[in-house]
Amino acid sequence: MKAALPPVEHVPVQTEGGHYTILIGGGVLAQPASWADLPRAAHAVIVSNTTVAPLYADAVAGQLAQRYTRVSRVVLPDGEAHKDWTTLNLIFDHLLAEGCDRKTVLFALGGGVVGDITGFAAATYMRGVPFVQLPTTLLAQVDSSVGGKTAVNHPLGKNMIGAFYQPQRVLCDLDTLATLPAREFSAGLAEVIKYGPIADQAFLGWLDTHLDALLARDAQALATAVRRCCEIKAEVVGQDEKEAGLRAILNFGHTFGHAIESGLGYGEWLHGEAVGCGMVLAAELSVRLGHIPAAYAEHLSHLIERAGLPVRAPALGVQRYLRLMRLDKKAEAGEIRFVVIAAPGRAAVQAAPDALVEAVLRTHGGA
Ligand code: NAD
Ligand code: GLY
Repeated sequence: MKAALPPVEHVPVQTEGGHYTILIGGGVLAQPASWADLPRAAHAVIVSNTTVAPLYADAVAGQLAQRYTRVSRVVLPDGEAHKDWTTLNLIFDHLLAEGCDRKTVLFALGGGVVGDITGFAAATYMRGVPFVQLPTTLLAQVDSSVGGKTAVNHPLGKNMIGAFYQPQRVLCDLDTLATLPAREFSAGLAEVIKYGPIADQAFLGWLDTHLDALLARDAQALATAVRRCCEIKAEVVGQDEKEAGLRAILNFGHTFGHAIESGLGYGEWLHGEAVGCGMVLAAELSVRLGHIPAAYAEHLSHLIERAGLPVRAPALGVQRYLRLMRLDKKAEAGEIRFVVIAAPGRAAVQAAPDALVEAVLRTHGGA
């Protein structure tokens, strides 16, 4: 007898830039229904990288071949260091060499790097072609594939060149997480944990009791976590697609985190590792601003550590941190603005005196 297909969760995303659905479950890429009613075109292009393409591109191409006359592939070099204009041009080279028209659909198969760069290519090729996110890392499934932020890095700043451009659909196949290295999985858990203190205290409690199941990649725990994260992200970007205000809360831990990433050199710490440590620092700042008790920040730090993430900041020096954080996209007129925990399960964005930031860095190893 044929085994029953695993249940697939559907999370709607409704932004001014587009309405679409996130499909979440085991075997999502293999189910014909996942691919139904996507934009019609003669040509579909899979954009992936040298690590992910050998694992999953054939299966995706098999599905696409049933719906598109021509299916081609662009295989990018792997890594954050390649999230740049040169790599972006490889996609444009392929699209132009293949004579792709403005109906061509791009399929971003990979983690956040492939998703962000493919999304930006889709936003700009012939002033915009449709694209679909096929995220294969935990981080991409719970965060980067949803909400339409697309970008490449500039040598002077991360994600500085980009566009808001929504995908047509997001297919989160939980089975792809089986091949994800443990360090990358932990990096994804940072973005999972993030949603608790900023938006859902009950989810933080759930994470406390289910972290071991998640680390063991238990299918049910993964489905619950990815669905809840996508629901929260959909709710936030539905209210504030272009980060006029509320959406900034999704950057909890990112102000310190981006300073760590660029201060150490991209790729030294993974994005999720820097965000995990950044959340420890931002929670400490929230304590020093009088918003939450110290025990709350300590508990969060312990959860982050249990997830396999670093909680001691690299010693870049206080002045270097401050300089790097003034480049953050939330900074206004040179004043750094932090996402802080205003109360358990609720975030706010505010400036903080340099002396407080310095004290935070001294307490957690950054000075
Ligand atoms: P990544 O894309 O570099 O993927 C991590 C590593 O895992 C890579 O080596 C990749 O090839 C490999 N990999 C991917 N899927 C795999 C699988 N199933 N099996 C085995 N290996 C696999 O990193 P990431 O953590 O997915 O994404 C980080 C990027 O996402 C950063 O550039 C960050 O700026 C961006 N980001 C964007 C948003 C957004 O809203 N657009 C949000 C968060 C992060
Ligand atoms: N990852 C932050 C955002 O999408 O806004």
